[in-house]
Amino acid sequence: MSRRKTAKYNLAIELDNVIQSPKPIWGNLQGKWKSAYFKNDHQLVLELGCGRGEYTNGLGKLFPDMNFVGIDVKGDRLAQGGRAAREMELTNTTFLRIHMQVIDEHFAENEVDEIWITFPDPRLRDRDEKRRLTFHTFLNRYKRILKPGGLLHLKTDSLPFFEFSEGSLAENDWEIIAKTNDLYTSEWMDDHYGIKTRFEEMFYEKGFNINYLRATNTK
Ligand SMILES: C[S@@+](CC[C@H](N)C(=O)[O-])C[C@H]1O[C@@H](n2cnc3c(N)ncnc32)[C@H](O)[C@@H]1O
Repeated sequence: MSRRKTAKYNLAIELDNVIQSPKPIWGNLQGKWKSAYFKNDHQLVLELGCGRGEYTNGLGKLFPDMNFVGIDVKGDRLAQGGRAAREMELTNTTFLRIHMQVIDEHFAENEVDEIWITFPDPRLRDRDEKRRLTFHTFLNRYKRILKPGGLLHLKTDSLPFFEFSEGSLAENDWEIIAKTNDLYTSEWMDDHYGIKTRFEEMFYEKGFNINYLRATNTK
């Protein structure tokens, strides 16, 4: 591992806003995020595959009366999100290091108010279908932890992944209530709060359209 990456892993260990194993709090917050962690009754919003957590911190700054958890498996990226949150003096954002496959072991049924999935790896090879964050096994986990009527937002540069996700959501009884293949010229432009993630910056600069959809949990 490079020296820079090692430094970020060490930073993730030091930062109390990066929750990862084997910190004692890791695995002990299911059903208790508001009461035991944030110590308030504000809404709980997740960013899945958050990387450096641009949405987690960006929304956290815009909405001080809501709680935000950025989730990713990569500790070095989460460390950067955690450090940015400290620099921004945010107390309503935090970062959780887990595999998304076990998200429902870390959040209780109906505990979550809203979910953002920001530029997930498209994993377009057929054999990787099951690893896409909008494959039905993942959607069913999100459905369980998201309250009825709760919103799921998806942003991606990948049109094939977007189309796959639309189909997967529809087949699994989510209701798609907003959708565009070109967010920046669409009527939904204001709904992404002007926040650009690191991957979004890269693809937007290269001239890719940004796809956006919003779906509700119909359970
Ligand atoms: C393409 S990056 C996007 C990062 C960030 N959202 C952005 O837009 O800049 C996708 C992120 O999803 C994370 N990821 C992919 N599959 C995951 C999984 N099964 N569990 C947890 N994180 C995952 C990766 O570690 C990576 O940081």
